[in-house]
Amino acid sequence: MELNKKSISKVLEEVYSSGSKDNIIKSGVVANIMVFDIEVDINLIMDNPTLQARKKVEAEIIDIIHQRINSKAKIKFNTKIKKVSKPEIERVNKKLSGVDSIIAISSAKGGVGKSTFTVNAAAILAKMGCKVGILDADIYGPSIPTMLDVEGYVPKSIKIDGVSKIEPVESYGIKLMSIGFFTKLDQAVVWRGPMASKALKQMIFDTNWGELDFLFLDLPPGTGDIHLSLVQSLPINGAVIVSTPQNVALADVRRGIKMFQQYSINIPILGLVENMSYFTSNEEPEIKHFIFGESGVKYLAKDLDINFLGEIPIFTSLREASDFGRPGSLQENSVIENIFREISKLLVEELIKRNNELPPTKIVKITNLVGCSAVKKKS
Ligand SMILES: Nc1ncnc2c1ncn2[C@@H]1O[C@H](COP(=O)(O)OP(=O)(O)O)[C@@H](O)[C@H]1O
Ligand SMILES: [Mg+2]
Repeated sequence: MELNKKSISKVLEEVYSSGSKDNIIKSGVVANIMVFDIEVDINLIMDNPTLQARKKVEAEIIDIIHQRINSKAKIKFNTKIKKVSKPEIERVNKKLSGVDSIIAISSAKGGVGKSTFTVNAAAILAKMGCKVGILDADIYGPSIPTMLDVEGYVPKSIKIDGVSKIEPVESYGIKLMSIGFFTKLDQAVVWRGPMASKALKQMIFDTNWGELDFLFLDLPPGTGDIHLSLVQSLPINGAVIVSTPQNVALADVRRGIKMFQQYSINIPILGLVENMSYFTSNEEPEIKHFIFGESGVKYLAKDLDINFLGEIPIFTSLREASDFGRPGSLQENSVIENIFREISKLLVEELIKRNNELPPTKIVKITNLVGCSAVKKKS
């Protein structure tokens, strides 16, 4: 057989790239073939980015041309990886154009202090001059309205440029939207996965967030369908995982971390936070009681080479503040304020670092930290 474009195209119809049911000619992997005497230049466009998959196809092409057409053919490849288009993410980016960074707050178990952390970190960042929003996405127990003293708020619908939007409620300088605003307080909400993620996505897109430096997403506990669907479809810049230090919680935390790190999701973990680290009594403040075990989360972070953002002891006043609807971190010059200030600063530093390291197409860059300079300076 003569070595030319036609004969090469013909034999390449017998080559398949992994994961495709069509041959490499039909599926468009072979973009161009050029023949100069015995030199053959082949342009490939592949959507499987692994080196192994690429090498395999190239080796098969060389073999089949050598065996069937000309054993002396010198074959060169110019292989490009097809950009995977992510229409959903682009759509979200566009709609949330005023939001610089979305931070998911996650925990494997409920009741470990995820909402407490979210509210107190958000409050202290707002106090430092950042523009902060919270989306309370915890369908099992939306507690943020209570913690921010806006229980029973009824979201208002407004029109912006002819488009209907929901107005978030503002409390302590934080813009809040909660799934709790749409369900009765005493009504146990059991949403099926697809329904819940649809409702949550809608809440995110349709809320008039305006300009935000940080949007905290208080996720439901666990690693189920809702999480996968939510985290896959949003341009989340990073996740914080909150846990108590006890062993049973830690096993779940590992699972949570895996979820964020899996290939199809790939959300950087900004750090772990240990809540309810220990308790001290007023009578003997120097004695720490490690009720849930000592430093479990800290050790786990070390083990997995993930940032440890800090520990939050058990404070009666923190719990009371939450129940009362005023974030404990707003108590001037208190130990609680100090703890949340330090953890929040570390978190923002880590976020800025990650945003700078990751390709800008995948993330929303922090560009608007003007009022937030105290935090930014540290990084
Ligand atoms: N460090 C802490 N000290 C005292 N009480 C806490 C602390 N962290 C959380 N709590 C209390 O524990 C309960 C569960 O916390 P919450 O933040 O609602 O957990 P989650 O959102 O993970 O379900 C709440 O009543 C909260 O006030
Ligand atoms: Mg909660």
